[in-house]
Amino acid sequence: TTSSEARISTTHAIIERNDALFWKNKEKFTVAVLGAAGGIGQTLSLLLKQSPRIKALRLYDIAPITPGVAVDLSHINTESEVTGYAGPDQLRDALVGCDLVIIPAGIPRKPGMTRDDLFKINAGIVRDLTVGVAKYCPNAILNIISNPVNSTVPIAVEVLKKYNAFDPRKVLGVTKLDVVRAETFVYGLRKDELQRLRKSISDVTVPVIGGHAGETIIPLLSQMTPKLSKPFEGSELQNLTTRIQNAGTEVVDAKAGAGSATLSMALAAENMATSCLKGLAGESNVIECAYVSSNVIPELPFFASKVKLGVNGVEKVLGLGAMTLFEEQMVKNAIPELRASIEKGVAFAQSS
Ligand code: NAD
Ligand code: LMR
Repeated sequence: TTSSEARISTTHAIIERNDALFWKNKEKFTVAVLGAAGGIGQTLSLLLKQSPRIKALRLYDIAPITPGVAVDLSHINTESEVTGYAGPDQLRDALVGCDLVIIPAGIPRKPGMTRDDLFKINAGIVRDLTVGVAKYCPNAILNIISNPVNSTVPIAVEVLKKYNAFDPRKVLGVTKLDVVRAETFVYGLRKDELQRLRKSISDVTVPVIGGHAGETIIPLLSQMTPKLSKPFEGSELQNLTTRIQNAGTEVVDAKAGAGSATLSMALAAENMATSCLKGLAGESNVIECAYVSSNVIPELPFFASKVKLGVNGVEKVLGLGAMTLFEEQMVKNAIPELRASIEKGVAFAQSS
């Protein structure tokens, strides 16, 4: 075992070095994090500082600590340059030239709140930041994390339309955390069989579609890979689905008033950002789930589904694939809530 472990770790080191060397000679990108001083923002920025795909990392927040966070990160011995920007006067400098803008700005939930309860404050924040994107980097890809995602994405789209800067391929609501959670929980329940198949947790994939709140979070467990001998059904299926849908609340309750998921979200956002940069760099077969402009459900202008990422952002919105009756019913049940959240966002943006 010792020698095979050594061989594996040498192979990993070579792959990592090759990846870094590969990216040294490739196009590198400029990325901004708006809300960079927050719980998600700081951790996400730390993860992005380690990316060989990024040449410039711009940290923007209204919090005065932001330039300090940037100085702190700038001492890390990776190649990207980190700069900090605090307050609306500096938004322009943070955004000019950006290829990808990630928005985790806004307040998080406390126990007892729904994500929609955040609308009052976060809607205006996302609107104002998207105005900046429309003015200063209209070609950038946008990854929106701020809740309620089901409404903040339509808000951003309406703002971009007003400025004639809307490209449906470039605005993505980040729902990757739902996928990360689904894969983690599935692995926990099927560890023995997966280990027998010599599969690790990173081999598990579960698409999650719909939106990012309660029953609009729809894990397609029938489409998980690797295929297992015992599919999820009955009460096990119901409990697993509910756990994935309530996982955000699980964290909110456990943090007991001090915020919502930040660390797992930062990792999920970094995964999503990396996939967007891979797409921009022309890598093939980059697939993620995201909440995007879509016509997969004819009555909804936005829906989360699998998307293929490319040099212009979303190259293709993939179909939903074969679903079980249970999954089809979840999609039907989610439509009224999604429609209402979308209309609320659109009305807010149009009236402000
Ligand atoms: P936080 O309070 O720790 O950080 C938010 C940051 O946003 C703060 O630093 C704040 O100063 C900044 N901010 C506020 N207004 C701003 C503005 N106008 N411009 C720039 N920055 C501004 O909160 P957090 O835990 O990092 O969560 C941030 C958001 O992400 C919340 O809305 C939360 O609900 C959401 N979230 C989404 C997901 C998801 O899966 N999409 C997961 C977790 C959290
Ligand atoms: C999550 O899913 O963790 C986030 O949307 C934060 C929240 O409020 O649950």
